[in-house]
Amino acid sequence: VLNILAMAGPDYSALKQIGAILNKNPKCKVVFLVGAGVSTACGIPDFRTPGTGLYDNLEKLNLPFAEAVFDIEYFEKNPQPFYALAKELYPGNFQPSKLHYLMRLFQDKGRLRRVYTQNIDTLERAAGLRDEFIIEAHGSFHANHCIKCDKQYSMDKFKTKILAEKPDDFAKCESCKGLIKPKIVFFGENLPSVFFDTWDGDLELLSKDHIVIVAGTSLSVYPFAALPTEVPKATPRALLNLQVAGDFKSNPRKSDMIFKGEAEEAAEVIVQELGWEDAFETLLEQE
Ligand code: APR
Repeated sequence: VLNILAMAGPDYSALKQIGAILNKNPKCKVVFLVGAGVSTACGIPDFRTPGTGLYDNLEKLNLPFAEAVFDIEYFEKNPQPFYALAKELYPGNFQPSKLHYLMRLFQDKGRLRRVYTQNIDTLERAAGLRDEFIIEAHGSFHANHCIKCDKQYSMDKFKTKILAEKPDDFAKCESCKGLIKPKIVFFGENLPSVFFDTWDGDLELLSKDHIVIVAGTSLSVYPFAALPTEVPKATPRALLNLQVAGDFKSNPRKSDMIFKGEAEEAAEVIVQELGWEDAFETLLEQE
């Protein structure tokens, strides 16, 4: 029996269920909640996968603890590690994944409600998702500000400095000489209010004609990790992830649809279930 099961290949039942719900109810829209696992296929390491995750590979920055690289107090004392990491992660060097293009298809087909992302790589924008559909819960490199007087800056002051790589030469505020930093949410900082406001609004809509698809996240950082718990019981939830994580593990619901595997593979199967192969191919060719 076991080798028959093994020959059966991966279990796509959750993906087929997602397709069935969306095909049965053309009014049904999707809210995506995504994390670093949707960008690993693009060449951007995630944070916690043992061995390849960022937090396992920061020793060259000799940090007191891995997450110090995103710690606001540590940054004020020593911006160097974040500068080194920012250079590696800076937008522009990576292409979106199949999962990013799946979300773009939902937008183009009028079936997308929102994408809440924890990622700072702005690949949702690169995939052609419009601003009104994207919530960058942990900020991104786009907007910058002085961490002392909050004066707003565009990307280029900070970008010039990280590319120059001159040691101890950091972007400083013209008015108060404070450090300029991209509005990426560091540990110790609040998430942007648009995250909370938009989620409160979307929650009202979720109980009818919606499903929530969580992809590529270990659901280990709050408050983002709490979102799946707040999804109304009547609203189907799906997880597309290499591991079962967060509320799907600690408080599983009978209606949960779980695909344990690569987000890119999940995207391909969902596209087939919805009959969107042609539009998907066209998007992938444009890369
Ligand atoms: N397909 C599906 N799942 C994947 C893939 C893939 N190709 N690659 C990795 N994963 C899964 C991993 O198994 C893991 O469960 O994605 C998850 C990534 O988890 P993390 O590395 O913890 O990343 P994330 O959940 O986004 O981290 C949240 O932590 O450090 C903070 O602010 C940072 O936004 C980040 C937050």
